[in-house]
Amino acid sequence: MMENLQYVMLQSRTSKLQSNAWVTEGLYTFCCQVMFESGFLTLFGKEFNSNHDKNLASKQETERAHILNALENFKEFDRIFPALVAGLPIHLFKSAHSAREKLGEALLHKNLLKRDNLSELVTLRMFLNDTLSTFDDMEKAKTHVAVLWASQANTIPATFWSLFYLLKSPEAMRAATKEVQSILESAGEKISLDGKHISLNRKQLDNMPVLDSIIKEAMRLSSASMTFRVAKEDFALHLQNDFYNIRRDDIVALYPQLLHFDPEIYADPLTFKYDRFLNENGEEKTDFYRNGRKLKSIPCRTGYFATSQ
Ligand code: HEM
Repeated sequence: MMENLQYVMLQSRTSKLQSNAWVTEGLYTFCCQVMFESGFLTLFGKEFNSNHDKNLASKQETERAHILNALENFKEFDRIFPALVAGLPIHLFKSAHSAREKLGEALLHKNLLKRDNLSELVTLRMFLNDTLSTFDDMEKAKTHVAVLWASQANTIPATFWSLFYLLKSPEAMRAATKEVQSILESAGEKISLDGKHISLNRKQLDNMPVLDSIIKEAMRLSSASMTFRVAKEDFALHLQNDFYNIRRDDIVALYPQLLHFDPEIYADPLTFKYDRFLNENGEEKTDFYRNGRKLKSIPCRTGYFATSQ
């Protein structure tokens, strides 16, 4: 992902950069394009091409156009996603339905096999589709559409809000820049525009508590999603002072934002504090309290996937 992010921001627009033409875009559009293009390349690889190919630049442009076209289809489908969750059939939404079909066509196994550097995740899913499932070609492709959607739908807004708050807070920007510079220095890496990519390993990426805190704080303030679960059996749901009898097939909805904005847990909850998730030693802070009780996990709906992006 790191390599693809750098490729997307520094190389895939080379022809535009060479013409010295500045492109002005809103922050959200920028995040959509950069995260979708790099996420797509990370999952589904690149169309076969060789660095020695004379037409490389024009092939890169064509590939980019395909991916941006997929982005438009993703947006069309994503727009009606809440209606689908509410149980409305996709056939009611003609353009979203057609967008999903087009994404499916792009991700048919015969098209994916023409690509280089498919991710392990997609390769494994293709193998399982081909060996264990009874899906037809389009159904197999739609399982990849689901992964593409899951990988982008939260990543794009999370990136937007993290950048939004970072750009608005000079203090946060200074602390983040200092942390990045120090990690690059200790990794012996340098920022350069000559095409050499920065490479950091997992351990180095995990050792960035300031960036981690900025992302968590941005998500605390911006994520307003609900999590739904359907009970598989009757059980008693014990809360702090009470309990509720849940029946099999009942829907339980969790609304994490109630905790995110609770002033007992987060003092001055509407204010962005870049270091809210740092302790006095500048390390990750994990102890948050409510009614004198330590909360079991940080009440931010991020999870392993989210924080490791
Ligand atoms: C900052 C970025 C991300 C955030 C905030 C995020 C958040 C979430 C949340 C809250 C859920 C649970 C939804 C629910 O159960 O109701 C979820 C599920 C999921 N996410 Fe992410 N996610 C992010 C990035 C990604 C990426 C990059 C991928 C794939 C490469 C991904 C793949 C998935 C999948 C497959 C599920 C469904 C898991 C399951 O139901 O078993 N997510 N994500």
